[in-house]
Amino acid sequence: MPFPGAWPPRSNEGLGEALTGAKLVVIPAGVPRKPGMTRDDLFNTNASIVKALVEGCAEFCPDAVLAIISNPVNSTVPIAAEILKKKGVYNPKKVCGVTTLDVIRANTFVASNLGVDPSSVNVTVIGGHAGITILPLFSQVPNFLPSPEELEALTVRTQFGGDEVVQAKAGAGWATLSMADAGYLFAENVVKALKGADHIVQCAYVESTLTDAPYFASKCKFGKDGVEEVMGYGKLSAYEQQWFDKMLPDLKKQIEKGIEFANK
Ligand code: 2OP
Repeated sequence: MPFPGAWPPRSNEGLGEALTGAKLVVIPAGVPRKPGMTRDDLFNTNASIVKALVEGCAEFCPDAVLAIISNPVNSTVPIAAEILKKKGVYNPKKVCGVTTLDVIRANTFVASNLGVDPSSVNVTVIGGHAGITILPLFSQVPNFLPSPEELEALTVRTQFGGDEVVQAKAGAGWATLSMADAGYLFAENVVKALKGADHIVQCAYVESTLTDAPYFASKCKFGKDGVEEVMGYGKLSAYEQQWFDKMLPDLKKQIEKGIEFANK
């Protein structure tokens, strides 16, 4: 739903009307990147916007699943969790960062390499949603055997696909339609699961004990109450392990930044 009050929000005006009774709230609000910016450069503006909207959710729809798209997702999800904790309504099963666009990009690149339809590919993408914190597990894709050079190119392109779009649009936009598609696919799966569909599994950035980063994206099983199970990510190849080791300190820093912001 569009934010019905002043923008950026100065108060919770209109939020009650927009949020009361919601079972799922998709939060894409905030400013996007310009060429040369990282997602983290959006922190100062978007952190306050997400905070205000999540405070509204805590008040008017504390049981809703939150699907957070606003960047930097690696920090805005921990911000949301901390705000909900302060209000006494945090449920880790119900706060997700949307990483579906990373999966869509990885699927598209594998499909074009293999000459197959992207809908027949489902790459697991773990970590977070920014640069090197995005790690596509191409070693787990059946029948996909890229050369080391191809593997490097596809991995980096998945990690920096968002930057590629921002640069191509040269200040006039960002990945709008593909993110809308990603948000739609994510939300549709959550709604199906909330309505009782079985076997809904998709990648999401959630509170996690899989690594020592307190939030981490991996495949999750969704059910009637949101995230039913945070699934493991299996065995990493030696190549993926190198990226994984590089990614964790970055991801943990971005998480810490969100937690600090929410608690200051
Ligand atoms: C992207 O990946 C906007 O974060 C978004 O392009």
